[in-house]
Amino acid sequence: MGKPLEIKDIKALAKRRVPKMFFDYADSGAWTESTYRANEDDFARIKLRQRVLVDMTNRSLATTMIGQPVSMPVALSPTGLTGMQHADGEMLAAQAAEEFGVPFTLSTMSICSIEDVASVTTKPFWFQLYVMQDRDFVLNLIDRAKAAKCSALVLTLDLQILGQRHKDIRNGLSAPPRFTPRHIWQMATRPGWCMKMLGTKRRTFRNIVGHAKSVTDLSSLSVWTSEQFDPRLSWSDVEWIKERWGGPLILKGILDPEDAQMAVSTGADAIIVSNHGGRQLDGAMSSIGMLPRIVDAVGHKIEVHMDGGIRSGQDVLKAVALGAKGTYIGRPFLYGLGAGGKQGVTDVLEIIRKEMDVTMALCGRRNIQDIDKSILLRD
Ligand code: GLV
Repeated sequence: MGKPLEIKDIKALAKRRVPKMFFDYADSGAWTESTYRANEDDFARIKLRQRVLVDMTNRSLATTMIGQPVSMPVALSPTGLTGMQHADGEMLAAQAAEEFGVPFTLSTMSICSIEDVASVTTKPFWFQLYVMQDRDFVLNLIDRAKAAKCSALVLTLDLQILGQRHKDIRNGLSAPPRFTPRHIWQMATRPGWCMKMLGTKRRTFRNIVGHAKSVTDLSSLSVWTSEQFDPRLSWSDVEWIKERWGGPLILKGILDPEDAQMAVSTGADAIIVSNHGGRQLDGAMSSIGMLPRIVDAVGHKIEVHMDGGIRSGQDVLKAVALGAKGTYIGRPFLYGLGAGGKQGVTDVLEIIRKEMDVTMALCGRRNIQDIDKSILLRD
């Protein structure tokens, strides 16, 4: 295969290189996957306005997200088990993002730890927090993110119980992974992946093992993760988390204007319009479908970001046109990692950058700040 031209090419490569259970984990949505599909399909329905004879020189995609400079309005989403798509995946993706000038968000459920990522990066990254029943562990995680000089905390609000993902159940995927002969076969058929995985010591949830009380090995971790997501999480928890953290706070998982209003009253710096990539409430609206209503409700009071369904630079531009100050990619960068490690993530970012740049020019605009609804056409 020649150089990948679009995210689809990179996805196909990742599918060949990553053991099925981990590829499927990234690729799965909840139940019928209708929201997962809608996230992508609703982007495809939005039409752009072609403009001509407009000066297209000196274009720039540079902007800010929560006041921090970014080379384009695209951050890497927090994704679980990233270090299983490729050995040391979080460290490699963080380095690729840093070199590209976009934020990397490390998930609580990552393989590489906060300290691992801090040790290979020179600029601050963002940290995503899941609130667990063990509040001492949560406080400790916040303190570790502060010690690592993370420059934003992304608090996920939509995964206090898990949406049912049929692919994961059929594949027998558990957190942390437990290996059956079928899994071992899936790994053995991906020798390149295996070799790299054997070359790293990072093969479990390193934010958790050795940090949470009584989690010292894989079997205690398994019990802990199955019990720890806290279904009682409420708006009042956002307050103490904000206070303990003391830095920029982004609330992820808002899909309703009423919740967006509540989010504004917490004093958070931004919200992410998100349905968790269609992995939680199947049957929910697409993120891009809800974005305009949420921007209408709170866009004048808080920075609105979005994730879900972005597979090209055109999608980013459409989200920005509908009022998103920033966007996030999850699966695309995971495909990049699976396909080619750090270089694969850089390739994904470069594909998105180029698509966005050329599309912006063909819409007759030179700066991302000039992108608004007027580049779209309703038919
Ligand atoms: C975790 O964030 C997941 O969606 O699996």
